Amino acid sequence: MKQVIEDFVYKKVIRNILLMSKLGRQSVLGEASTGYNFDHMYTNKPDGYLGIGRIIDYILLHLPAVKATRARKENIIAILAAEIEQRKKNGKVTRIMDVACGAGRYLAELDAKFKESDIEIIGIDYDTKSLILGESIAKSYNVSEKSIRFLKGDIFRLDHLKRLGTKIEWCPHIIIASGLVEYLDDNVVQDVFRQIHEALDDGGCFLFVSQQNNPSRKLMEKVGTTKNGPWILHYRQPSVLCDWLREVGFKDIHFRTDQWGMYDLFTIKK
Ligand SMILES: C[S@@+](CC[C@H](N)C(=O)[O-])C[C@H]1O[C@@H](n2cnc3c(N)ncnc32)[C@H](O)[C@@H]1O
Repeated sequence: MKQVIEDFVYKKVIRNILLMSKLGRQSVLGEASTGYNFDHMYTNKPDGYLGIGRIIDYILLHLPAVKATRARKENIIAILAAEIEQRKKNGKVTRIMDVACGAGRYLAELDAKFKESDIEIIGIDYDTKSLILGESIAKSYNVSEKSIRFLKGDIFRLDHLKRLGTKIEWCPHIIIASGLVEYLDDNVVQDVFRQIHEALDDGGCFLFVSQQNNPSRKLMEKVGTTKNGPWILHYRQPSVLCDWLREVGFKDIHFRTDQWGMYDLFTIKK
């Protein structure tokens, strides 16, 4: 009986309230995990139907899980900027590949901190709407098309990341995967790790983010939907991921957990 009442509250009451706000609407209507939905979290500008929709959006944008997602973006930029600075001191350009980049706001913000000669970025995603938004974000930061390139593609149909690099004569020094592994089954994550290890330049860096928990987990699972069904993620302990990383050959593995106990940000050297 309790379950029936709970389902009614989530699916008939909460869901209808969420439909009024931009983040809520996108999240319940199959667009929860899109790059543009995440970009709305990053920009943090409440939007929705009438004043009430904007108020609901404001509340959603200030949930701990959404604050943690914005913090994730800042942490990615800080880690990458330090890495690029280090390479710059040694007179080296940094090539970055982002697998499942979404709208890539953190890539544009990062790129804007450096000169065109310091950094080259390729972002890959299969969602056209996110890529178009990504291009306009890059323009708004005055980042040139030469410095950030967006490629439309399914990362699992590129045949092989290493072969893609060879084809375009471009070997990444850094590979990023943010908001990806929590959507993938265990065997797929292990395969992605193996491909990334092969595709990375020797001494290159792999930066990825995983989730071990989510303060909004119940809300997401009850009413959120992605293009593939309910917004249900794979929550993993970092130790499991460390084992898989070691199995494919990564040695120098570091991670830190955020203050919400939600995201684990890994920096790994090949
Ligand atoms: C949660 S968003 C994360 C976007 C961005 N990396 C970030 O951290 O804000 C997940 C992104 O992965 C993309 N994606 C998922 N599976 C993909 C695949 N097989 N190939 C390419 N892109 C994929 C989606 O289109 C979406 O933009």
